[in-house]
Amino acid sequence: MIQQIDASGKPSRQQTFGVAFVGSGSAQLKTVLSNDQLAAVVDTSDEWIATRTGIRQRHIAGPDESVRSLGAQAAAAAIAQANLAPADIDLILLATSTPDDLFGSACQIQHEIGASRAVAFDITAACSGFVFALVTAAQFIRTGAYKNVVVIGADVLSRLTDWRDRRTCVLFGDGAGAMVMQRCEESDRLLSFEMHSDGSLNDCLNATYQHESTPLADEVTTQKGGFVPITMNGREVYRFAVKRVPEVLEKALFHAGLSTSDIDWLILHQANQRILDAVAQRLGIPAERVVSNMAKHGNTDAASIPIAIDEWVRAGKIKPGDTLALSGFGAGLSWGAAILKWGQ
Ligand code: UT7
Repeated sequence: MIQQIDASGKPSRQQTFGVAFVGSGSAQLKTVLSNDQLAAVVDTSDEWIATRTGIRQRHIAGPDESVRSLGAQAAAAAIAQANLAPADIDLILLATSTPDDLFGSACQIQHEIGASRAVAFDITAACSGFVFALVTAAQFIRTGAYKNVVVIGADVLSRLTDWRDRRTCVLFGDGAGAMVMQRCEESDRLLSFEMHSDGSLNDCLNATYQHESTPLADEVTTQKGGFVPITMNGREVYRFAVKRVPEVLEKALFHAGLSTSDIDWLILHQANQRILDAVAQRLGIPAERVVSNMAKHGNTDAASIPIAIDEWVRAGKIKPGDTLALSGFGAGLSWGAAILKWGQ
């Protein structure tokens, strides 16, 4: 067990386990939509999208792809990389805003991968969802409740996109990534975290349920409707991100007892290359330590951070012992950060 040290430096009475990050995976989607293809649908251009966002293409889920199938693919790959079997998994957390079933898609994934022992549920925190789910998973591991946890970020935002709205449709793509977190008796590799919400800015980014009153009985109406496509105040969200993300990373680094020079990889939610550049510049982190794959994927919501981690792990760039600084931000508005060491 890891001994918790209290503020005075003495071991506290509460003892917990540590967390290790032992596997990653991501889904391979079949269909690519290029900027040029989009420019044939809405009044935009590859030049505008690439210079304003860094995005060149995105993947779109086809009729046989879903949060369930993509999440399952990513989870299975992460479990295999961790040298575990699905039956070893105790808990599955699915961060998503686009479940196949509003009652949750985590159980569907649990069944699809054959993780029959695992309890599974969804977490909704939009683009902060993966960081929030990772932190939630760590609480279960640290208390000793669960040993092997799969955290998935999976979203099919193409379902919620208004393909006639050039201010939003050029940004989003579909995808799924996953990570295996494991109880560790020797050390705790989640060095710190920070999570925040500001509901006063909620109307900056929404995919709301809109309804009409339908009479049911005397003085009783039901509210029938559906979810409408994403609306976003892009400039406001941009301003929020470039202010809050460096701030939250600085706080998390402070709590970890680290400085920006200790970060091997800065892995931000892939919303806009200009946001990545501005945050890295504010923190003094050189471009070669900033992970960016948005040219290939666009903004995949809760999936963007685990996809980026998986691609960098599989390319041999993220190595065991590397220090990763993650930050997710978006609808809520919500934002958070986690500082961790990769590997056993
Ligand atoms: O994942 C959740 C988090 N989301 C974000 O972090 C998004 C944050 N925001 C952004 O990334 C940027 O604000 C956007 C990429 C959404 C927009 O970039 P911008 O530089 O803030 O553009 P803008 O909204 O200020 O628009 C500038 C101009 C406008 O034209 P006028 O009014 O100056 O004539 C827009 O109508 O660009 C126009 N425009 C476009 N032109 C061609 C907006 N979208 C497009 C487009 N193609 N797709």
